[in-house]
Amino acid sequence: MCGIVGFNGHVQAAPILLDGLSKLEYRGYDSAGVAVRNGKNDVEIVKAKGRLKALYEKTNDGLAMAGDCGIGHTRWATHGEPSETNAHPHCSDDRNVTIVHNGIIENYLELKEMLEKAGYSFHSQTDTEVAAKLIDYYVKKYQKGPIDALSRFMLRVRGSYAIAVLFAECPDEIYAIRKDNPMVIGVKDGNTYMASDVAALLRYTRDIYYIGDNEMACMGKGEVTFYNIDQEVIEKDVTEVKWDVNAAEKNGFEHFMIKEIHEQPRAVKDTLNSVVKDGKIDFTALGLDEDHIRNFRQIYIVACGSAYHVGVAAQYVLEDMAEIPVRVEIASEFRYRHLLIPENSLVIIVSQSGETADSLAALRIAKEHGAETLAIVNVVGSTIAREADHVFYTLAGPEISVATTKAYSAQLIASYLLAIEFAKVREKITDEQYAGYLEELQTVPGKIEKILDDKERIQWFAAKYANAQDVFFLGRGIDYAVSLEGSLKLKEISYIHSEAYAAGELKHGTISLIEKGTLVISVLTQPDLYEKMISNMVEVKSRGGYLMGLTTYGNYGIEDTADFTAYIPKTDIHFTPSLAVVPLQLLGYYVSVAKGLDVDKPRNLAKSVTVE
Ligand code: F6R
Repeated sequence: MCGIVGFNGHVQAAPILLDGLSKLEYRGYDSAGVAVRNGKNDVEIVKAKGRLKALYEKTNDGLAMAGDCGIGHTRWATHGEPSETNAHPHCSDDRNVTIVHNGIIENYLELKEMLEKAGYSFHSQTDTEVAAKLIDYYVKKYQKGPIDALSRFMLRVRGSYAIAVLFAECPDEIYAIRKDNPMVIGVKDGNTYMASDVAALLRYTRDIYYIGDNEMACMGKGEVTFYNIDQEVIEKDVTEVKWDVNAAEKNGFEHFMIKEIHEQPRAVKDTLNSVVKDGKIDFTALGLDEDHIRNFRQIYIVACGSAYHVGVAAQYVLEDMAEIPVRVEIASEFRYRHLLIPENSLVIIVSQSGETADSLAALRIAKEHGAETLAIVNVVGSTIAREADHVFYTLAGPEISVATTKAYSAQLIASYLLAIEFAKVREKITDEQYAGYLEELQTVPGKIEKILDDKERIQWFAAKYANAQDVFFLGRGIDYAVSLEGSLKLKEISYIHSEAYAAGELKHGTISLIEKGTLVISVLTQPDLYEKMISNMVEVKSRGGYLMGLTTYGNYGIEDTADFTAYIPKTDIHFTPSLAVVPLQLLGYYVSVAKGLDVDKPRNLAKSVTVE
């Protein structure tokens, strides 16, 4: 989604702003802009529709803009079409206030009306222009300076935002405010950097301050002061970000997505080893002790997109191993439902970014209902991680490709570990089973490597089916969870219509869509459901469908039915999603490449969905 950068220091700002924006490109955007101050001169604003390249060209790589203090933005349109007029920065007509904004101001129409009555006029369709003019209104009306105006603004608006502001009266300062949208600040060698995502700062500093909800910051050159909404100065600790800078580079791979697919063995191993010590799971860092675990009577898993698919798989594993009831819910539904959360419930929020608006809202609602909350999150210090009662960090490292792969895999591992520990504490498995599960999990990274070694077969198949119009994925039990993810991977980056069905559902309507040549991908890793899956495949075949099977080595009889088969190594039945998903990720990737599409930045999508 939108990205923000800011720089205030002793060198030219615009090239640094552009570099920061280039690190945020992966989040998805349709226009970009920068605003730079050169001492007391007026703010200079340059914007461009489309790719960042256009902004680089317009500013001669930033060199054409003088000044050492500025803000920049990549916009993903919410209010108003992608255009130069709607692109950020936005400013008051006299350039007294210039802002960039991530998020949505929900009551902007009402505020716009109020401002129009006060004599303001508007040129764009955005809520951001309203925000800029409202801040300007408060500065002029109360004459008490930026912090006063910003706190009045925060009390007046509804919605979510991270905003960076340049005030004409403060040429050497940048101000920032945030609510429900991330914003971080780094200080190094007399320079101060700001961004909505740590990835944009890593090149300059690893020492980061997180601005909290309803807090403000004033960035000077090489210094920063934080305020709460009551305008009191607050102290903050620096957090050291341990992510490897190279992790945000392609390192010789053609796309981030294929690089991240190859990083899965490492992501799985690191996540596993972060809590498994001497053959035992240690959740001390999560603050989850045995009494806690014993007490829970119900688990909810709440998330969006692929993270929700992790929840669907985790439900099978937790219920089967730990015999505890689990409900999996889409966060945007959970948050608006009449919730009947029983006592002693644990609500698990799964999120790579830790900033997804619906997942964050679900977390807060769960807490309001008295549930204990656990976040499975990848981004350290993200809002969901900070607000949950317990955090299980996945160690996937920065994920740049919009389509998630390694974070999904790391989330699966986190959910298996929870299931194993819950099962042990609740005495549903023996010590031998416990040891056996952990031993088997250690083999998963190697087995993923093995699948990756055979990727050319999938590449060949993908090239053959790149022109498919509709694709169906079928699975039963935990294989259905994998089908959901395989289908999403394909459609989001290849723009091929695809759907996943619980195989038994096919006959209840969808089978009428199968015609000669329709590609149907069946996932069948569960021995108990194998025969039933084969029957479903035969039904499809007899209607002309073209069948791809995805099963474990040894099930060679499938070749009597399937037209093409991908095999994965055998593992414990609960852990098969970690292996079965890999050929499906590869399929989505290679189809997208064969179609010549923008694999890492698919149209209309954003990496972190911070608005509803
Ligand atoms: C799909 C994908 C999305 C995310 C979803 C949740 O490849 O990446 O479906 O899984 O937007 O995002 P997080 O995990 O950041 O909450």
